[in-house]
Amino acid sequence: MKRPSVTTVLFIGGITLLLLLASSPWIVAAYWRVRSDNPIRRGMARAEELGCFACHGDLGRTGIPIPGSEEGVPSWSGSVWMMYVKNDEDIRRYIMDGSPKETDAQGYGEDDALHRHDADAITMPAYGNVIDRRELEDLVATFKVLSGMVGPARGTAARKGYDLALEWKCFSCHGPAASGGLPNPGSFTGFIPGWYGHDFGDLVRNRNEFDTWILEGTIPRLSNHRVAKIFMRRQLLQMPAYRHLTPAELDSLWAYVQWLKETDGGYNGEIASW
Ligand code: HEC
Ligand code: HEC
Repeated sequence: MKRPSVTTVLFIGGITLLLLLASSPWIVAAYWRVRSDNPIRRGMARAEELGCFACHGDLGRTGIPIPGSEEGVPSWSGSVWMMYVKNDEDIRRYIMDGSPKETDAQGYGEDDALHRHDADAITMPAYGNVIDRRELEDLVATFKVLSGMVGPARGTAARKGYDLALEWKCFSCHGPAASGGLPNPGSFTGFIPGWYGHDFGDLVRNRNEFDTWILEGTIPRLSNHRVAKIFMRRQLLQMPAYRHLTPAELDSLWAYVQWLKETDGGYNGEIASW
């Protein structure tokens, strides 16, 4: 076989380089998506695909009405979960097997009889044959965080930080329990960072940077950086500056971030007792 000429090699090399350059924003975005992946981000995406929010409402906040029944589909939040599930195993069972049948009410918790109606026009579908083990665990993690089934213990600094984040709706940009990953067109990674994991570690190197992000909406290390500042100006969503927050409030937000780290993003925290 004839060896390819130098010009052919250069030509093919040049085209490859051009293709690589052209696709680099996607490569960067894909790299970051994988690197800062976590169960809650995955569970959120899967829940959208599986239609969970079609019945349980956006982010599981408001279930749809059930014709012929006084009660609607239960929301995941507002302590409603307590009437249906007590632990991870119960959540798994709902997702895998769907609504309990008349005959196997036992083991579903004593209140279940109250919530089961034979004539229900809308019941929880069984997802057992549609998802694998890891997807199930991701969905359980997402449910626990969205429902508020897990959270820092009352009276702790971390709890104050969590309540503050709820009050200011930080999670509507930073994702459920600050898991991150919501889209931010034009930004370097393509999404809004969370408060733990690799993206957080790269953006927040110490407590001082954390406070500065929140008070100023940016940090000098990046806003003065030749490349970073281009992306920061270009991205459509910007971090607001919360200048009025007090040092004590920043302390509590930091405590919440530590709690997220200790509990792998919250879902391995203790189940709230009421
Ligand atoms: C067709 C509507 C529908 C869809 C889609 C649906 N559910 Fe449900 N879900 C229900 C109903 C109805 C109940 C109440 C169960 C009962 O009383 O039998 C329920 C109950 C639950 C519960 C226990 C109670 C609570 O706190 O809400 C969990 C957990 C749950 N669903 C998770 C999910 C997940 C995860 C998905 C997606 C993989 C999903 N559901 C999709 C209708 C639905
Ligand atoms: C309007 C959407 C929005 C809201 C609301 C918001 N943020 Fe942000 N936040 C961002 C964006 C976007 C970034 C990334 C900034 C960048 O890369 O320039 C960010 C970055 C951060 C960072 C540093 C990077 C990281 O990994 O998270 C912290 C800490 C932070 N925000 C905390 C908060 C707190 C605390 C609140 C609520 C008091 C809050 N944010 C509310 C959009 C938001």
